[in-house]
Amino acid sequence: MCGIVGYVGKQKAVSILLEGLKRLEYRGYDSAGVCVLQSGQLDVAKKIGRVDNLTREVSQRRFGGTTGIGHTRWATHGGVTDANAHPHLSSDAKFALIHNGVIENYGQMKQFLIGKGYTFRSETDTEVLCNLIAYHYAKEPVGNNGTNRFLESVRKSLRHVEGTYGIAVLCVDFPGELVAARKASPLLLGVGDGEYIIASDASALISRTQNVVYLKDGEIVHLTPASFSITTLDQADVSPVVDKITWSITDADRGDFAHFMEKEIFEQPLALENTMRGRFSEDGSTANFGGLNLTAAELRQIDRFLFCACGTAWHACLVTEHLIEQFARIPCEVDYASEFRYRNTPLHSNTLFFVVSQSGETIDTLAALREAKRKGHKVLAINNVVGSTIAREADGGIYQHVGPEIGVASTKAFTSQLMVGAMIALYVARLRDMSFSDGVKYVNALKGAPALVQRALEQAAHIQEIAKRYAQYHDMLFLGRLSLFPLALEGALKLKEISYIHAEGYPAAEMKHGPIALISESCPSVFFAPTNEIFPKVVSSMQEIKSRKGPVIAIVTERAELPSGLADEVIAIPDCHEAVLPIVAAIPVQLLSYYIAVERGCDVDKPRNLAKSVTVE
Ligand code: AGP
Repeated sequence: MCGIVGYVGKQKAVSILLEGLKRLEYRGYDSAGVCVLQSGQLDVAKKIGRVDNLTREVSQRRFGGTTGIGHTRWATHGGVTDANAHPHLSSDAKFALIHNGVIENYGQMKQFLIGKGYTFRSETDTEVLCNLIAYHYAKEPVGNNGTNRFLESVRKSLRHVEGTYGIAVLCVDFPGELVAARKASPLLLGVGDGEYIIASDASALISRTQNVVYLKDGEIVHLTPASFSITTLDQADVSPVVDKITWSITDADRGDFAHFMEKEIFEQPLALENTMRGRFSEDGSTANFGGLNLTAAELRQIDRFLFCACGTAWHACLVTEHLIEQFARIPCEVDYASEFRYRNTPLHSNTLFFVVSQSGETIDTLAALREAKRKGHKVLAINNVVGSTIAREADGGIYQHVGPEIGVASTKAFTSQLMVGAMIALYVARLRDMSFSDGVKYVNALKGAPALVQRALEQAAHIQEIAKRYAQYHDMLFLGRLSLFPLALEGALKLKEISYIHAEGYPAAEMKHGPIALISESCPSVFFAPTNEIFPKVVSSMQEIKSRKGPVIAIVTERAELPSGLADEVIAIPDCHEAVLPIVAAIPVQLLSYYIAVERGCDVDKPRNLAKSVTVE
């Protein structure tokens, strides 16, 4: 969840590191730090709070070296203090280390190192690893068989580590060199023009190069100004594959928007186009997925779907479940990845198993994938980040193609996951009982989704006005039915995440079984009330709220006729096909949460306690 960046080259390292950290800040923002190797010493600056604090600190000192590492932290071990911020130095000041992940056996190693005379300044697991490297380095005064002593002491230390890590290390005795390694924490190497950048995320290096090597678990990279080499923990050589990142620096810029979240909300029509591009059959009656690696005959054997994900991606899976069952008539189940990994769910051979993750790095989702693979089951992934760990470990899958999502609160990735889910439902329905003409109608509806989303976005000013009236409440309910029940969950999650208002999502009729006790003048309810066969039932639920003085915000489709005076606020979205409705219905709740958070003065893109991708358990 932390962000890490390292530089080896000819330029002044510190400015490149600070720029990288600024771009990585969405990964964690409790504290930040840099270390530069110059004139035979490791110069460190670290500060709690945002990267801007660190930048101010750095500007008051001289940081001239061309090799360095930087880190932005999301605290796991030890509170948010300057001392616990990374980089950490070994007690002999020979090594500096940054780390993303959790070292589970750090307690044991710490006791061992204290016994050997090593001292500690922080409460972190990271400082323990740094001293362990120093210990192995001191023990082995010359490189074995001409091997690099710095590299070998890192390798040796990592063999003792239980847990997860993405690390980058500097050693005073090796100016211009850097060693980095990963296990279950993302790490990639940017291969630039006479320079190398190591980072936990492409956004930290994209301004310098689009050529990258995605490191695999158990790999160690050794950088010098002139070359790089990759080996494994067992000293085997790895032949690097250099990939090209398909997006550019402008995709990761905020442009004229106040926040990344706002930009990403308004980008959704284009993002949906990109998700659909090239994925419909020539006859316009079904979807095509190149990456599933399954024949039509194999797919016809499927008698159950299982989807695993976390957070917003889990909500997207619930909508997909509805559509697959509705249109393809195949039973579908959705599990939290964090539960699936320990639950020992039966996985029969005719179950098609999907994991869904925007980042492709969420540790619970990755663990679910690995658990299914361990059982010999094929795993498919729906994912937005090319080259992510989940994308690489899955047996096939579907990329979302929406470009980098920087706002911590997921928006465009969510609606694109809904789109992919709708396309999967269509694809399997057409392999079974959906007719050609129904397929054509479905495809046309999906193709029309970006324009309908655009129309929903035109409600922004109206929603902003509503947000002003509701920004000071402490509790809110979100209520929806059928495919919009997951949207109620998502609306509540969005509001909680960025405005810190307590919110809960329920199926509208379920409200009577408990949550109605919360209803009063001070607890508004946001209702999804589209025109469909159960519209009158939703209206009844609204009436139950209203008769208990609960304010009602109704999100209706344009043809819906609400009894006058029932809703305090009405937001109209276009009427649409059942497969498109959840996508369009996402827009008002995203905008409502966004404007409420802005109204409350919250830091929308960096909400407290959160980080963009959750790479620790
Ligand atoms: C979304 O707003 C959240 N920040 C969070 O729930 C997120 O969706 C979840 O952590 C899963 O992330 P992933 O899609 O990258 O796996």
